[in-house]
Amino acid sequence: MALSSTLGIPQAASVPRHVAIIMDGNGRWATRRFLPRVAGHKKGVDAVRTIVEACAERGVEFLTLFAFSSENWRRPPDEVSLLMRLFIHALEREVTKLDRNGIRLKVVGDITAFEPRLQELIREVEARTADNRRLTLTIAANYGGRWDILQAMRRALLAHPELADQPERLDEALLSPFLAMAYAPEPDLFIRTGGEKRISNFLIWQLAYTELYFTDCFWPDFDAAQFDLACESYRRRERRFGRTSAQLEAEAIASEPAAGH
Ligand code: IPE
Ligand code: IPE
Ligand code: MG
Repeated sequence: MALSSTLGIPQAASVPRHVAIIMDGNGRWATRRFLPRVAGHKKGVDAVRTIVEACAERGVEFLTLFAFSSENWRRPPDEVSLLMRLFIHALEREVTKLDRNGIRLKVVGDITAFEPRLQELIREVEARTADNRRLTLTIAANYGGRWDILQAMRRALLAHPELADQPERLDEALLSPFLAMAYAPEPDLFIRTGGEKRISNFLIWQLAYTELYFTDCFWPDFDAAQFDLACESYRRRERRFGRTSAQLEAEAIASEPAAGH
């Protein structure tokens, strides 16, 4: 019997293992202060630093940040090139600190669209931090959830030419290793700052059973205290994965150590 649309049920834990964030609201943060949008993006980089540290301190293993979507190319060219410059500067400036703090950096998305210097820098930083395991920080850049599913399908078909004749053999277990974030468990907690309640083509496959948290706080104002509020909300959720509350309770009792031992 085909069991579920998610491959496995993760262990319940009070600290989410994988947190994925849409960092939204930089522009509005700046506009409210009569500043150019760029000021919001710059402040946003500071917030990234704060949240990376908070995650490392709290034992989060994977943090995934949406930095630039496949749709963000539609923005005015000046803003796009400024975002690219900020990305380059942040990588150049932070690599030593990331490495010293045991943080592995990964970038997911179609980076072939970036200028060669940025592509090279991404590869360098990934290589330099590849053995770090305290926290895996993934930056989604020129990323789109639909792009991810399509690129995974294409690579799966190349690796398994027999699928053309036996499409029924294509299942989640076969496809998953080709998804861009195959090295990470699916996110436990999704956070979107800035007030919008949409996924904006982020990790659409991987978010199938993730707990969703939306806050009106603009990304530049998102700090450790705000992050803790999101985690507190996460801890109150009952992750049923299709089962009933009674089943979960029975499981919890069964796994408790017997009295007197
Ligand atoms: C998020 O902030 C940063 C990126 C998308 C790169 P926005 O720039 O979308 O800020 P708002 O939504 O306009 O306030
Ligand atoms: C989503 O934010 C992408 C990133 C944060 C990088 P947007 O601000 O681009 O999303 P929409 O277009 O308002 O949905
Ligand atoms: Mg936005």
